[in-house]
Amino acid sequence: MKIVQIFIFLILIAIGFADSVFLTYEHYALTNIGCPVSPWINCLAVTTSKYSEIFGIPLALFGVIYYLLMGIFVYFGRTSKMFRHFFIITSTFGALFSVYLIFVQAVLLKVFCAYCLLSAATSFLIFGFSLIFFEKEWKTVVLDTFGYAYTLVLRPIFWKIDAKTVHEGMTSFGEVLGRNDLIKKLFSFIFVKKHKNLKSTYHGIKFDNPVGLAAGFDYNAQITQISRHIDFGFQTVGTITNIEYAGNPAPQLGRLPKSKSLLVNKGYKNKGSLVISDKLSKFKKFDLPLGISIGRSNNSTLDTLESSIEDIVKSFKMFEKANAKNSYYELNISCPNIINAVHVSFYEPKNLEKLLSRVDRLRIKKPIFVKMPIDKSDREFKKMLDVIVKHKIKGVIIGNLQTNKEHKTLVKSEVRKFKMGNFSGKPTFEDSNRLIKLAYKSYKDRLTIIGCGGVFNSDDAWIKFTNGASLIQLITGMIFEGPQLIAQINRDLSERLTKKGYKSIKEIVGTAV
Ligand SMILES: Cc1cc2nc3c(=O)[nH]c(=O)nc-3n(C[C@H](O)[C@H](O)[C@H](O)COP(=O)(O)O)c2cc1C
Repeated sequence: MKIVQIFIFLILIAIGFADSVFLTYEHYALTNIGCPVSPWINCLAVTTSKYSEIFGIPLALFGVIYYLLMGIFVYFGRTSKMFRHFFIITSTFGALFSVYLIFVQAVLLKVFCAYCLLSAATSFLIFGFSLIFFEKEWKTVVLDTFGYAYTLVLRPIFWKIDAKTVHEGMTSFGEVLGRNDLIKKLFSFIFVKKHKNLKSTYHGIKFDNPVGLAAGFDYNAQITQISRHIDFGFQTVGTITNIEYAGNPAPQLGRLPKSKSLLVNKGYKNKGSLVISDKLSKFKKFDLPLGISIGRSNNSTLDTLESSIEDIVKSFKMFEKANAKNSYYELNISCPNIINAVHVSFYEPKNLEKLLSRVDRLRIKKPIFVKMPIDKSDREFKKMLDVIVKHKIKGVIIGNLQTNKEHKTLVKSEVRKFKMGNFSGKPTFEDSNRLIKLAYKSYKDRLTIIGCGGVFNSDDAWIKFTNGASLIQLITGMIFEGPQLIAQINRDLSERLTKKGYKSIKEIVGTAV
């Protein structure tokens, strides 16, 4: 803290403190000394009203305590980050409480107390200066406080409600928020900070930061207008299929808190390529690089390789024709929750070869990434990569859900509750990292790797980058930790890069391989 900043705060605190002591005196002495009296102004009427006490203690006395605390926080905040954070939180609380007190005077009592207004002014100024002086730390405090509020208050409430209902409620809410420019600006103010060292460009696409929303959260392209404003660097919508699908029989989504995982059994619940391509084509641009994930329709009529490939091709054609302003495509070959997934599998190298040859013939200019499975041995995975690199595929996303119900990270008692579906989150972390490493070792100069699976914080993200990923995606971490997680990961990554002397994420990609 600079000396001039301390000086400004101390003056304001001294004024507020003296004012609160005086108001406390007035409250007990029942006098109106020094306060002008008019039909609009009457200190005594306010300081002795029924709103002037909480549990028999005058609010003015709380004011005295507030300013004393602020003085202590400033003193220790000169050198201590923790005390500066206390100062920021308390100054926010003080400003909010002053708003309430002004409301009481203006609306409930219809009379003002000049000295109360002076106290409100000092608390607003303290808050305002804290915003200016501690801009960077203020964001940290807001994000971290939001995170605590999410895990301690919001998440327990959400988790009392059916998971699918919350998920669909959130995407619909996001769609409404994304229609309002003011809300977008407010969200950006709170969540977005541009970090120079997190910027990158791959295949002509400019990424403000390397943290993306994975396929499966926004099936019907509802949150494309708000996702940048909670600091996502890119977003994938879908997976979208040629034939719309209402979703697999319940449960489509479940929670495994101890395993830090979600049960996923959606089976591509989406409105179909025609509806979504039409929806996306109406947006002139997106605030972030947008990807469209395309998969084979979840429909029993598609029981041959040829019909499945043609079904995928139809979706690509539809999006290309609609001229949607997406930056890239994902070709999802790894959803384990669809009908005929075993019978018609693109994991077989010869089947994959047929699919990619057909996609090549579409001559799509936008980069295509293949969404890979993680339940494969190194040998099987390498064989798939060997096929992929022969085609016009720019990269791979590693990877999809954990299908192994016996996986050591899954708590058995939680798994037993579900008969169908597969698992996201922590149970995907290790296998995803293993295969990222393998892909990097094998084809680092040929394929851009997007790491996905079990990222809950910046340390997890760092591991994915050092194993060979250039970008990362997530869903489950955000659901467990809150939407502020994206900004927290970006902030922490940026700080860690600076601390270790790196200028960009690119410099750490693959350094652990
Ligand atoms: C609710 C839900 C739905 C998903 N649906 C899809 C999907 O349609 N297409 C896809 O490629 N991946 C889908 N996934 C997998 C995720 O994209 C991601 O690969 C996986 O969840 C691991 O990342 P995470 O641990 O950060 O969630 C889904 C995941 C979740 C949680």
